[in-house]
Amino acid sequence: MRKMVSRSILEFCFSLTIILTICLFKTDAINNHKPFVPLKKFFNVLSYGANPMGKVDNSKAFLKAWDDACNFDGVSVIVIPKGGVYLLNSLTFIGPCKSYRTVLQIKGVLKATINPSYFYNLPTWIGFRYVNNLVLKGGGVLDGQGEYAWKYNDCFTNSRCAALPATLRFDYVNNSRVHSLKSVNSKNAHFNLFACSNVQISRVKFLAPSNSKNTDGIRIGTSSNIHILDSFIGTGDDCVSVITNSSNIVVTNVTCGPGHGISIGSLGSNSLSEFVKGVSVRNCTFISTQNGVRIKTRPSLFKGVVSDINFSNIIMKNVFNPIIIDQLYCPGRICSEQIPASGEGIKDVTFENIIGTSNSEVAISLKCSKSVPCRNVKLINVILPYTRGKSKSICSNVQGSSYGKQEPPNCV
Ligand SMILES: *[C@@H]1O[C@H](CO)[C@@H](O)[C@H](O)[C@H]1NC(C)=O
Ligand SMILES: *[C@@H]1O[C@H](CO)[C@@H](O)[C@H](O)[C@H]1NC(C)=O
Ligand SMILES: *[C@@H]1O[C@H](CO)[C@@H](O)[C@H](O)[C@H]1NC(C)=O
Ligand SMILES: *[C@@H]1O[C@H](CO)[C@@H](O)[C@H](O)[C@H]1NC(C)=O
Ligand SMILES: *[C@@H]1O[C@H](CO)[C@@H](O)[C@H](O)[C@H]1NC(C)=O
Repeated sequence: MRKMVSRSILEFCFSLTIILTICLFKTDAINNHKPFVPLKKFFNVLSYGANPMGKVDNSKAFLKAWDDACNFDGVSVIVIPKGGVYLLNSLTFIGPCKSYRTVLQIKGVLKATINPSYFYNLPTWIGFRYVNNLVLKGGGVLDGQGEYAWKYNDCFTNSRCAALPATLRFDYVNNSRVHSLKSVNSKNAHFNLFACSNVQISRVKFLAPSNSKNTDGIRIGTSSNIHILDSFIGTGDDCVSVITNSSNIVVTNVTCGPGHGISIGSLGSNSLSEFVKGVSVRNCTFISTQNGVRIKTRPSLFKGVVSDINFSNIIMKNVFNPIIIDQLYCPGRICSEQIPASGEGIKDVTFENIIGTSNSEVAISLKCSKSVPCRNVKLINVILPYTRGKSKSICSNVQGSSYGKQEPPNCV
């Protein structure tokens, strides 16, 4: 009898243990697989008093919406409704935000001011600063109305010229995305990234006339892990330019033209040491641009290194200067070609599968400095005939190698 009881108690305990274990496992599994779903809240700029008729400045309403969105503990979606035209003078959205993610759903048209007292000598039209997890999207338009401002740009003749605002300025913005937007007629650069990391820009269309000054598509400085993809960039200046202290920049499936091509540099505008490391431009097409792919540094001033640069699978259609390295870039004569370069210079640069036509006789121009030659420059399958005959290549102080088909005959 006693034996029986103790046995059933044992059995009972045993089953209880199993049940408890299963229960524990279950709750554990549920906790593990249940995704964290933050609350989501919409902030419509119209509820903050924005006027969608394109006549009055909406900066105050937009900044009020930003304040609430930025302080919301969840996913904030600022809605800029379709059909409206929202005039904005100049504004900067400042973080850091409490929100888990801050989305600007730009469905309408944002229009910049045409009044010089609100743009002359200002660096920014729409700025974002110290923000993480920002998303700009929505299919809308950022219209910089640059056609009213370009005449104020005298930077080609006046070295102390007044700045005109970039359409979008990201300063210290991390882990963010911009997609499905259109940026037209910026007064200066369309997008300017400074001190950013992990930013992806995709399906954006950048447009400005070929004769508009300084209307770079995307200018990147002091930033890392930037990916630009699936976009069309046709402007009056560089489609993409990568400057000072940037690394891991990837550009894929971008069509560039009109414009000045995709450019690394110029570097050496200040006297500090600088680097650009790890740039990959792949699957891109250049149409009737002034340059294709280019690296330029100022001779006496550049003290740094440009390294690990790949340009591959690129189509050049009627491009004036398809391939350029210029270590003697010296506009405005603030540098001197006579003073030797210092630093490590340009190294580990590959041009691979670059096919199309050159609109000038010199399809490849690699001008490096005597004191710091370019090192490990590779040309692999580069076929760039001149539209009116045979093309040629020019090299000075280049160390490297070539493989596969070469037209023009290469000089490396
Ligand atoms: C973004 O990252 C940089 C360094 O990676 C950091 O200095 C900066 O504070 C970050 N920005 C924000 C808003 O957290
Ligand atoms: C390249 O980008 C264009 C948009 O500019 C897009 O329509 C196309 O699907 C992209 N191609 C690939 C292979 O992703
Ligand atoms: C670039 O980074 C280097 C350190 O690698 C630093 O010494 C220099 O000041 C930076 N230059 C600029 C222009 O930020
Ligand atoms: C460039 O190509 C080389 C050789 O394929 C590779 O080792 C390197 O990681 C590439 N760099 C970039 C930035 O894509
Ligand atoms: C480039 O294009 C090729 C062929 O269209 C495709 O297989 C490859 O995935 C693309 N690479 C990138 C990085 O987009």
